[in-house]
Amino acid sequence: MQDLLLPGTERVLVTGGAGFIGGALVRRLLRDTCATVFNLDKLGYASDLISIELTLAELGSAAQGRHQLLRVDLANAEATGAAVRQADPDLVFHLAAESHVDRSIDEPGAFIESNVTGTFHLLQAVRAHWEQLPQERREQFRFHHISTDEVFGSLGPMGRFSETTPYDPRSPYSASKAGSDHLVQAWHHTYGLPVVLTNCSNNYGPWQFPEKLIPVVIHKAVAGEPIPLYGDGQNVRDWLYVEDHVEALLLAASRGQLGRSYCVGGHGERTNKEVVAAICSALDSLLPTGAPHRRLITQVTDRPGHDRRYAIDPTLISMEVGWQPRYSFEEGLAATVHWYLEQQDWCRQVREQAGYSGGRLGVLAPS
Ligand code: NAD
Ligand code: DAU
Repeated sequence: MQDLLLPGTERVLVTGGAGFIGGALVRRLLRDTCATVFNLDKLGYASDLISIELTLAELGSAAQGRHQLLRVDLANAEATGAAVRQADPDLVFHLAAESHVDRSIDEPGAFIESNVTGTFHLLQAVRAHWEQLPQERREQFRFHHISTDEVFGSLGPMGRFSETTPYDPRSPYSASKAGSDHLVQAWHHTYGLPVVLTNCSNNYGPWQFPEKLIPVVIHKAVAGEPIPLYGDGQNVRDWLYVEDHVEALLLAASRGQLGRSYCVGGHGERTNKEVVAAICSALDSLLPTGAPHRRLITQVTDRPGHDRRYAIDPTLISMEVGWQPRYSFEEGLAATVHWYLEQQDWCRQVREQAGYSGGRLGVLAPS
C-alpha cells in the first residue's frame, strides 16, 4: 500500500483537500496508503467534506486520526506558517486555488490573493520547514504544485500543449495560475526547494461543485431548464476523469524529476457541443420522460476572452513517470451522469450553502 508514496512518507499535507480534485486525492491517500493527511483548506464556497467523512466512516479504525483538517486561508501568512509547522510534512500537494474562470472574470482580486499571494505564503512556510528537516527527511521531501493547461493559452485547430509550450495565459484565472507556477519554479531554482509541477487538462467526475460545464449541464437538463452553451459551442476541451488525474499526481510526486513540469491529459478532446450532446443522450436513456433533452440546449453570449481549444500531449509523463489514463471519456461520463442523478440532494445542499442559484457568471456589463 505505502509504495504509492516514497519510502518514509508518513505525513502528507494537501492544500485544497476540501475541493473537487483535492478531495479525490485525500480519499485515495486514506484508502491506499498509511499516511496521515493534513488537509489545509479555507473551506470556501466550493468546499465540501462529506465525501471524506464517508470514506473515513467506511475505513473505520484503519483511518482513525489519519485525516486532520487545518482550516486556514493561505492569504494569511502567519496562519499558513503555523499550519505547515503543525503538519510537519514529508510531502506537500498544493491544490488550493480559486478555480473557476467565470468567477475570475467577475472577481479577479480573489484569484490573485489565493493563487498568487497564497502560493507565495505557502512556499515561504514550506521552505522554512524543509530547511530545518534532518538530512534524510530533507532528501525525500517533495513539494508538488498542481496547475492547469490554461497557462499555455489557446490553440488553433492543430497542435497540442507540451512542457515546452510557452506560457500565454489569457484569463485572470490562468494568469494567476501561471504566476503561481513561476513562483514555484523560482523557489526551486533560487532556494533549491525540491518541486514537481503538473499542468492538467479539464477534470470531471463525482463531487465537483455544480458550476462547471458537466455538472451544470446535468443539473439544467434534469430540471428541464435551458442548457447554456457559450458562443458557437465549438470550443474544445481535453477531458480527464478525476481519478486518472489523482493517479498522475501520485506517480509524478514519487517518480517525477525535480524541477520538472509534466503535462497531464487523456486524449479526451471534445467540442462543448459534443459534450453537451453526449450528456443529453445519456439522460434520454436514464430519464426517458424528459427526452429529448437536447431540445433544452440554448446558445448564450460567449465567455469574454474564451480560449478556443486546449489539448495535451502527455508523452513525457507517460515515458518518464509511467502514467496512463484508465478511463475513456465515455466510461467516465457515464459514471459521472449516474453519480449526479443519484446525488441531486448533495447538489442542492452545496449550492444553497454557497449561495449559488445556478445563474450565469462571468458576463461583462454592456459598456
Ligand atoms: P475547487 O474549486 O473544487 O477546490 C479548490 C479548493 O481550494 C477549495 O476547497 C477552496 O476552499 C480551496 N482554497 C481556495 N483558495 C484557498 C485559500 N486561499 N486558502 C486555502 N484554501 C483555499 O478546485 P479543483 O477543481 O479541485 O482544482 C484544484 C486545483 O487543481 C486548482 O489548483 C486548479 O487550478 C487545478 N486544476 C483544476 C482542473 C479542473 O479541471 N478542475 C484542471 C487542472 C488543474
Ligand atoms: O483546462 C483546465 C481547466 O478546466 C481548470 O484549470 C479549471 O479550474 C477548470 O474550471 C476548467 O476550466 P474551463 O473554463 O475549461 O471549464 P468550464 O467547465 O468552466 O468550461 C468548460 C467549457 O464549457 C468552456 O469552453 C466554457 C463552456 N461552458 C461552461 C459553462 C459553465 C459552457 O458552454 N456553458 C457553461 O454553462
